[in-house]
Amino acid sequence: MNDPVKTMKQEVGRVAAARVQSDSIVGLGSGSTAAYAIEYIGDRLSKGEIKNIVGVPTSFQAEVLAKKFKIPLVTLDAIDHIDIAIDGADEVDPQKNLIKGGGAAHTREKVVDSLANEFIVVVDDGKLVERLGSTFLLPVEVIPMAVAPVMRSLEKLGGKPELRMGVKKAGPVVTDQGNLVIDVKFDHIDNPGEMEKTINNFPGVLENGLFVGIADIVLVGAIKDGKPEIREF
Ligand code: A5P
Repeated sequence: MNDPVKTMKQEVGRVAAARVQSDSIVGLGSGSTAAYAIEYIGDRLSKGEIKNIVGVPTSFQAEVLAKKFKIPLVTLDAIDHIDIAIDGADEVDPQKNLIKGGGAAHTREKVVDSLANEFIVVVDDGKLVERLGSTFLLPVEVIPMAVAPVMRSLEKLGGKPELRMGVKKAGPVVTDQGNLVIDVKFDHIDNPGEMEKTINNFPGVLENGLFVGIADIVLVGAIKDGKPEIREF
């Protein structure tokens, strides 16, 4: 049976992948929506619609998918820029600021996405919020030995931190870098730019999921009368 949510995510991924041009270095995002974009980029490459593409994966997941869909990969020491990056998000505010990290990949995502000349975000309309932190907890990647002091610092900042636990894995989620993730509930994030810097300043924090002023284009998928509809936000 047709799953409208899946169809809508596929469609957002397809529309984003259609913006990739030949001879580009492409940041490959993480999560279920970005996964479709990777698939469609591979599809366009195999059909000869575009050529001379190299990808920079934002996670182990993106790397595996790129290999599956035969997109050549490079590391950041082999290139001096990224032309376009396509990545998902967990929340998007009216200023195109984001919360990311639902897949614990936000550290590498921020490195890749912020290097891109054009960063395209692919989301469904359920991710649009008036204020960041309204629906999603803020992910913070922390080196394992610093979890306790960072949790205390996050509490002093007014947050309610919890260590992210694995699913079908005993113990905590371990990131691609071998670190842990603390998810923090804030009643409100009034100034995302300040909050991003404050949290990253806690010793032991590698990166948090606030992406401020990085996104250029947000493609939003919705289901209207049972059909997917994509608009630029
Ligand atoms: C990964 O850490 C996240 O930043 C993802 O980009 C985000 O969770 C979006 O995933 P979905 O497209 O599956 O919602």
